[in-house]
Amino acid sequence: MVYPIVVYGSPVLRRKAGEVNKEEPGLKKFIADLWETMYKSDGVGLAAPQIGKSVRIFVIDTAELDKNDPALQDFKKTFINPEIIGRDGEMWNFNEGCLSLPKIREDVERKSKIRIQYFDENWDFHDEEYEGVKARVIQHEYDHLEGILFIDLLSPLRKKLLKGKLKDISKGKVDVDYQIKVIKN
Ligand code: NI
Repeated sequence: MVYPIVVYGSPVLRRKAGEVNKEEPGLKKFIADLWETMYKSDGVGLAAPQIGKSVRIFVIDTAELDKNDPALQDFKKTFINPEIIGRDGEMWNFNEGCLSLPKIREDVERKSKIRIQYFDENWDFHDEEYEGVKARVIQHEYDHLEGILFIDLLSPLRKKLLKGKLKDISKGKVDVDYQIKVIKN
């Protein structure tokens, strides 16, 4: 099932998401829906709060991000109850977008390397290190579980310049080719 994407102005995007319970009924279906919604919206990542559920799950598939980068072609993973336990390396800029902030793209500074622990869809535990674009996308999605959006990482001036666009998004006034929704609670 394809969900509408919850956009800026919805409190669920600002909440710290709760841990996922392995026994939660409908969990498999929910993860399948997250994938389906991500592909339908042409995203490279999607976190559960973006479809209105405040739980610690996100999915990533970077294949569409850069067809010329073989390292990104097979990076497809489900992250459950993830924890970033280390960030390292240089700060670097990368142009980010977000399905919950339609039509906004900005250069965002983040650390280049991370170490993350998480469970996959089979509840196998992983402890892995990533760098570059993979670390970038993981940090972006992880932030969604913490109630953080990439606009929070911009300079006050950049953010001020986006004020009008953000206001329109929060009213659902944005022309985008996937279904969006503002949830007021
Ligand atoms: Ni996002």
